[in-house]
Amino acid sequence: MEKIITVFLLLLCATSQIASSLQDGLLPNGNFEYGPKPSELKGTKVMSVKAIPNWEISGYVEYIKSGHKQGDMLLIVPEGAFAVRLGNEALIKQKVKVTKGKFYSLTFSAARTCAQEERLNVSTSPNHEKNDFGLFPIQTMYSSNGWDSYAWAFQADESEIEISIHNPGVEEDAACGPLIDSVALKTLYPPKRTRANLLKNGNFEEGPYIFPKPTSEGVIIPPQIEDEHSPLPGWIIESLKAIKYIDREHYSVPEGKRAIELIGGKESAVAQIVKTTIGRTYALTFAVGDASNGCEGPMMVEAFAGKNTVKVSYHSKGKGGFKPGVLKFRAESTRTRIMFYSTYYSMRSDNSGSLCGPVLDDVKLLSVRKSHLL
Ligand SMILES: *[C@@H]1O[C@H](CO)[C@@H](O)[C@H](O)[C@H]1NC(C)=O
Repeated sequence: MEKIITVFLLLLCATSQIASSLQDGLLPNGNFEYGPKPSELKGTKVMSVKAIPNWEISGYVEYIKSGHKQGDMLLIVPEGAFAVRLGNEALIKQKVKVTKGKFYSLTFSAARTCAQEERLNVSTSPNHEKNDFGLFPIQTMYSSNGWDSYAWAFQADESEIEISIHNPGVEEDAACGPLIDSVALKTLYPPKRTRANLLKNGNFEEGPYIFPKPTSEGVIIPPQIEDEHSPLPGWIIESLKAIKYIDREHYSVPEGKRAIELIGGKESAVAQIVKTTIGRTYALTFAVGDASNGCEGPMMVEAFAGKNTVKVSYHSKGKGGFKPGVLKFRAESTRTRIMFYSTYYSMRSDNSGSLCGPVLDDVKLLSVRKSHLL
């Protein structure tokens, strides 16, 4: 009975043209399982603006069935049987009802196909901030099947917004461009500092939506994300490379349900700036481990607190596990930058060539009495 109701609700959502009310998870028809009528398709090309239920398109958008052949490449779809492809300057968008002022994170899956430097531009409108969009280069493959999930975050400026995913590229072949599947939204609750931890979201429990499907390979959080709009509230992703957000459902996680994997060596650092009292002593504690994803070998995490640093080595057998790390320091400033990165670059032992690295979790900062140092 429950199943029938769910299916009925899905159908109802999928066919209604009104902006849908938001719940964590896939957007209505967020996995593109409901497609255009045959009369609205020319080959794979979608011929009218509202042909894909719940979505509006512009430009060269293709509706792709899993197993579709392109040259000698077989296109697969991670969720269900259908996906869309955004060709030259193509765009898909959907209206959603949200709560004005709240923060949301958007997770979507994408795969590159033929163009060299495929990028996606994710944005919401209306948007009162200037230059508030996410530009995702998708040439690096992080997962073994070619599909990666990416996260972006925004603050809703109105109670109804439109989410757009746009391929800004122009290729010789107009059909060339990334595949998109599984677009999901999650409300973020920006965590606060507590007595038990001066850091926000130190255990990484608050973060973007992770697809529950069995093949999920975590969510890529792109670099150069500012504190304000981080899909990982409280944290800044510094430097050039992304980090990966993982959950207990699919990986080994030291504490709670979620953690991060430092997949970009020294090029992907995660940081937070905290208020400290000059002269006071603090203890930064954390867990370093592996995700149980075949990422084997020597690993090292470097932790920084202002000018102080500690290196924690961990030997991964690729089967899960973790050890604690600690950095005690005396604050020299009213603001101290806490930062972590992986010293080495690692790759999974499954020949996928996927980047991997140490897992970081359960990061705590506490003020300690001097006697604790002795
Ligand atoms: C990304 O999209 C936004 C919103 O449409 C636009 O203002 C911005 O110029 C775009 N950026 C790029 C690099 O295409």
